[in-house]
Amino acid sequence: MRQSVWRSPAGTRVGSKDKRPENQRMDDSLQVPSEAEDQPAGSAPLPDSSRGHPDKRLPTQVLVADDDPVARESMSELLKDCGYDVIRVSNGTDALRRLQANDGPCLALLDWMMPDLDGTHICQQVRAAQTSRYVYMILVTARDDPKAVVEALNAGADDYIRKPFNPQELCARLDAGGRIIAQRALQESEERFYSAFECAGMGMAMTDLSGDFLQVNQTLCDFLGYSKEDLLKKNFQQITFPADLSENLLGLQQLISGSRKTYQTEKRYLQRDGSSVWAHVIVSLVRNADGRPAAFFAQIQDITERRHLEEQLRQAQKLEAIGQLAAGISHEINTPTQYVSDNTMFLKQTWPVIQEFICLARRMHEESAAGPLSPATISQFGAWLQKADVEYLLGEVPKAIEQSLEGVQRVAKIVRAMKEFSHPGSEEKSAIDINHAIHTTITVACNAWKYVSEVETNLDPNLPLVPGFAGGFNQVILNLLINAAQAIAQVVGDGSGGKGTILVTTRHLEDWVEISVSDTGSGIPEAIRARVFEPFFTTKPLGQGTGQGLALAHSLVREHGGRIWFDSEVGKGTTFFIRLPLALATAG
Ligand SMILES: Nc1ncnc2c1ncn2[C@@H]1O[C@H](COP(=O)(O)OP(=O)(O)OP(=O)(O)O)[C@@H](O)[C@H]1O
Ligand SMILES: [Mg+2]
Repeated sequence: MRQSVWRSPAGTRVGSKDKRPENQRMDDSLQVPSEAEDQPAGSAPLPDSSRGHPDKRLPTQVLVADDDPVARESMSELLKDCGYDVIRVSNGTDALRRLQANDGPCLALLDWMMPDLDGTHICQQVRAAQTSRYVYMILVTARDDPKAVVEALNAGADDYIRKPFNPQELCARLDAGGRIIAQRALQESEERFYSAFECAGMGMAMTDLSGDFLQVNQTLCDFLGYSKEDLLKKNFQQITFPADLSENLLGLQQLISGSRKTYQTEKRYLQRDGSSVWAHVIVSLVRNADGRPAAFFAQIQDITERRHLEEQLRQAQKLEAIGQLAAGISHEINTPTQYVSDNTMFLKQTWPVIQEFICLARRMHEESAAGPLSPATISQFGAWLQKADVEYLLGEVPKAIEQSLEGVQRVAKIVRAMKEFSHPGSEEKSAIDINHAIHTTITVACNAWKYVSEVETNLDPNLPLVPGFAGGFNQVILNLLINAAQAIAQVVGDGSGGKGTILVTTRHLEDWVEISVSDTGSGIPEAIRARVFEPFFTTKPLGQGTGQGLALAHSLVREHGGRIWFDSEVGKGTTFFIRLPLALATAG
């Protein structure tokens, strides 16, 4: 096969270096191609440089170092035609500086012999400097002495090419170097990702679409108490707290269907020893190069401690609210107890009269069985009729019994509501009867509103049960009712000149249940509307508010995957709206 030659545009043979020792002379040297027919027979046409390098994943910058200007230029032209960006330098010192720079090229064609610093020394120094990126170096030489080649490779060169060379072979060798660089870069990037994944202070996991773990980091293993080996044998469903699973599966389904980009939730995991721990989890979908869903990537933050503290804070706020209501509640219980007592006293005083009548009635029954009634019995009954106020007895005794029963029922209702309300509540979501919870809370809060307002309800009798934490929901409604009553009190004072109105409504909207609490109170001024859900924001005097009511309501509603917002007009009143999802999905 004909040795390839590459002619200069002028058709001249270029690149000989007379100053080189005889055995290093590039006598055939480089020749710049001028015509397509100058390329070896059967070789593919060189790529059009205007399109850049055909493989976009490969590095495109190459350093060409040659002290012979003609050889340098012709090699540069060739590489440009192959789609490379060429940096040309005319000596070894400049080549080394470029290669050691942080943003220098990853590919280099180095003339073996240069007067200041030759190719092998450049290779040695680049390797010794251990640049942050790998530089693929090809020595260009006319030498064919095998010892020299070994020496060059040992100095750190990756490859060499002999002059005169086939231009396509040069490009192919450079492309091969580019592939190695790209591969190394990919490997380095994977290693960086892996070490970031592994060292992260947050649990990280990758699962396939069925939930089998593909990769887990040590933080997650420590959090769940599993060894890496054991955790990798599990499916996420096996370590998810059973009550949280359906919500998780729904969220993942939504990721696959594309209806959400990330899925965030607070959920419980089961540790190896069976105990449960809380985590804030952010899951995203990993797609294949062709865009198809391939895996789930989850970031898992341990929030067990925070959940306990929040739970304690909520319980404390609830007890504080109940504490504030306690005086009123005792009054609520005291009033019916008082008239139950009065009525019972009345029945006690009335009893001898009734007892006398019963005894007379029995005697009359016995006498009439034996014959006519004795005159003594008849006169005794007449005396009783005169003494007893029969009309009064017939009217008042049933009333006293009725009222007593009602009073006892009222006390029982308050006590039951208090019990339901102050119960710490289960950690489990259950199906909440929202209307019942509203009635309970209105009863408990009675003393907070009854002097300043009427409470009306318009509750949808067909409201479905809502999944959630019943205790938390009661607390939200209580906070809204108290706020409403306090806002009305600002308008009506002690209520002696007329009361305001609180209206509580519920309705069913497809996948949601909506609850609203409206008041005819002072309204929320524009200037503070953005702040009312902030923890500890209050406009109330010391002792009346701590600014926790709406902040807690907000976090409880979000925990149910719902929304809370309000409409307000200063001087007219405020309506707070809550929407809770019927599906077990957390907002994310
Ligand atoms: N229905 C309402 N009408 C008018 N203003 C309201 C109403 N609800 C809340 N606000 C305003 O929002 C602020 C924050 O309410 P939030 O319930 O969080 O705290 P608070 O009532 O001040 O104190 P806490 O609830 O802890 O006793 C209130 O101080 C008040 O200014
Ligand atoms: Mg409040």
